[in-house]
Amino acid sequence: MQHEVRGVVARRKGAPVSMEKVVVPDPAPGEVLVHPRACGVCHTDLHYREGAIGDSFPYLLGHEAAGTVEAVGDGVTTVKPGDDVILAWRAPCGACRSCLRGRPWYCFDSRNATQRMRLGDGTELSAAIGVGGFCELTLVAAGQCVPMDARISHDVAGLIGCGVMAGYGAAVNTGGVSRGDTVAVFGCGGVGDAAIAASVLAGAGVVIGVDIDGRKLEWAREFGATHTVDAGRDDPVETIRALTGGVGVDVAIEAVGRPETFMQAFYSRDHAGTVVLVGVPDPSMRLDIPMLELFGRGGAIRPSWYGDALPTRDFPVLVDLHLRGRLPLERFVSDHIGIADVEAAFERMRRGEVLRSVVMLA
Ligand SMILES: NC(=O)c1ccc[n+]([C@@H]2O[C@H](COP(=O)([O-])OP(=O)(O)OC[C@H]3O[C@@H](n4cnc5c(N)ncnc54)[C@H](O)[C@@H]3O)[C@@H](O)[C@H]2O)c1
Ligand SMILES: [Zn+2]
Ligand SMILES: [Zn+2]
Repeated sequence: MQHEVRGVVARRKGAPVSMEKVVVPDPAPGEVLVHPRACGVCHTDLHYREGAIGDSFPYLLGHEAAGTVEAVGDGVTTVKPGDDVILAWRAPCGACRSCLRGRPWYCFDSRNATQRMRLGDGTELSAAIGVGGFCELTLVAAGQCVPMDARISHDVAGLIGCGVMAGYGAAVNTGGVSRGDTVAVFGCGGVGDAAIAASVLAGAGVVIGVDIDGRKLEWAREFGATHTVDAGRDDPVETIRALTGGVGVDVAIEAVGRPETFMQAFYSRDHAGTVVLVGVPDPSMRLDIPMLELFGRGGAIRPSWYGDALPTRDFPVLVDLHLRGRLPLERFVSDHIGIADVEAAFERMRRGEVLRSVVMLA
């Protein structure tokens, strides 16, 4: 059997998204049919719509989702119909070289549904990062479904499925932020603020939020930034040095995805500090780094995919922190919107008015 539902599709590079009829098949072995209940609008959805991630249009957008299992395919034992789950865009295969070496967060054969969802005319859809959360039903691999504690609501749980996990993990897993460290976070959107909150939880002494938007800097302080820098007004590298006794930070996290902010992060480190790149660049972007600066400063440059997270290990930790009042996920939610409002949410994101708009699906 197949299901006809509504979903948000990016048909062409740069074109506004549209609501389309989506045909979703019943789950094959190893697959799960999920009813997303809430799905956050992440900047990566906008990157998809702009053609910055790939050219496999049409894309079914949405990848920051929590929902309810509707049906499971043969052989699925980890979840059952009625279970509440957070959808992960990483489901380690368990068999590739990275998985077998005990580093499943680098899995390069992460699982997704094998059947494709389609438009009404039969055109195959590419689900954004293998999720397709802005849709009344979606098809994923069983490993993408992480059971969630029923005490957390879907709107905040979904954020763990991308932005919050990516930012939190960028700080704690990739950057190794620990007690007493000094940290700077460039870009205080959903991802950057999660990196700030994680740095505070990890015991960082100084946590500096950098953005060009005053509202974002206010929110960064609410998430625990000890200092903020308006990069439209002040030079972030000089200001960060001044705030850290002239030396720079131990960990500089780039959560914008632009060469200029990457270079600011690069130069705002202390000797042997770490730069974490969690912002997603587009294919046209280039870096020009004096090789002597790279060598002379030492340390590490570490791209962070999904915060080096292992969803089955890390999602429950974040849920638990939230339930104990230590990770205020509700503060990321700027507004609840309908499935028809995603294009308007992109505009609000561009204008810097929101941390996260969350699409609610009844
Ligand atoms: N690596 C991953 O696994 C992963 C996961 C999710 C999102 N991302 C990426 O992380 C980035 C941030 O995502 P988001 O959802 O938080 O986006 P967002 O739009 O909510 O936040 C981006 C922030 O950067 C700020 N900014 C823009 N230009 C700046 C500049 N020159 N200096 C300082 N700040 C500047 C904006 O004002 C905004 O606050 C995006 O590139 C997104 O694609 C990566
Ligand atoms: Zn995302
Ligand atoms: Zn693998």
